Amino acid sequence: MNLCIRMCGELNGEVWVGGDKSITHRSLILGAIADGETIIHNYSHAEDCLSTVRCLKSMGIEIDVSKEWITIKGRGLYGLKEPEDVLDCGNSGTTIRLLAGLLAGQKFYSVLTGDDSLRKRPMKRVVEPLKLMGAEITSRNNCFAPLSMVGKKLKGIEYRLPVASAQVKSALMLAGLYADSNMILEEPVPTRDHTERLFEFFGLKFTNNGKKITVFPAQGFSGRIINIPNDISSAAFFVVLGLLTAREMVIKDTGVNPLRCGIIEILRQNGADIKFDKQRGLNNEPVANIIVKRSEIFPFTISGSLIPRLIDEIPVLAVLATQLKGISEIKDAKELRVKETDRISAICSELRRMGANIEETEDGMIIKGPTRLKGAACESYNDHRIAMSLAIAGLVAEGETIIKGADCINISFPEFINILKGVCGEECVQYQE
Ligand code: S3P
Repeated sequence: MNLCIRMCGELNGEVWVGGDKSITHRSLILGAIADGETIIHNYSHAEDCLSTVRCLKSMGIEIDVSKEWITIKGRGLYGLKEPEDVLDCGNSGTTIRLLAGLLAGQKFYSVLTGDDSLRKRPMKRVVEPLKLMGAEITSRNNCFAPLSMVGKKLKGIEYRLPVASAQVKSALMLAGLYADSNMILEEPVPTRDHTERLFEFFGLKFTNNGKKITVFPAQGFSGRIINIPNDISSAAFFVVLGLLTAREMVIKDTGVNPLRCGIIEILRQNGADIKFDKQRGLNNEPVANIIVKRSEIFPFTISGSLIPRLIDEIPVLAVLATQLKGISEIKDAKELRVKETDRISAICSELRRMGANIEETEDGMIIKGPTRLKGAACESYNDHRIAMSLAIAGLVAEGETIIKGADCINISFPEFINILKGVCGEECVQYQE
């Protein structure tokens, strides 16, 4: 399916982007190994999360997905069953990496695989430390999926992650629950801490002294009722759209975890009018309504420890940078090259097609603005965040922008197109078969 986008006028409105994808994956996995029922409200409808549901169901977990909530009948720490077939993680890096951690310590054999994109993404970062814990894992071509796992008794290790990755950290925390001694982890730079917050919420024992996380072997824990905040990474598209076009845009009930809010922080520092209203806590996560107004923003430089706090938002920040007066720069973001596609190369080549002055560097990009973007026929590279970023670019471009293969948006944000139609009008957002 192609998406046809035309320039929008001044916007004003309220949006509800739906539950956080990262927190949904983690809630599903912990719910499956808890004792008794877990109910997840405001879960993410992303296809990625349905991949996690499918894999857990294949291991004997009863999961009921209704429109409003998910019910999981947890079978306890050792209640998973050997799957009869390979576990297909689809496009989801979080599913494959977190499940690798969970399955390394089970008493059965399992194989994790995924789609063409996932089978090209690096798994060494998770396989290597799991092997140090005693896991038996074979993989294709030096650590690419399929990963074939023979469950083993694991031992706790002390490990410093070579790359800043919340997926790897979470995988090792899950494996640590099954180890026979404490697991000590050190991150090069802090990454999203949803696993830690959920461990605490479920009553799982761990400590974090700011430098090292220690996970204690688990004893068994009970299911819970979880309410998930809306997804800041989905909200980011409307934050950028609001800054470029809105009298006022209110993005409701959104997770504002500091380790996910790099985008808000850097934009505020550079003049953006973004306010938090009705700040509160929801299941151990901070939530707020985000209020955005069109603002004059200065060009920005993003690098270092800020990168993991806004990693998924870089493509849409690149779109924003094309509209700012001066040179914006993104550095230290090499990780973007091993996401669903090479996002540095993808966003640079497609924005260039629209007339942007954007130059690819080894670990980021340099953008000179402002440019009056021109509509063009663009590729999505089957990457949801590239497709949605180009849709935002199309809304501020002259003429018509076509985004080819826009179905991939369902991977993280199936409601995106309808919400966009709601705020911009049907004439600006249309499907094209
Ligand atoms: C995620 C962590 C990030 C992020 C991904 C979701 C998670 O990946 O890019 O979209 O849920 O833990 P890395 O941990 O590999 O950086």
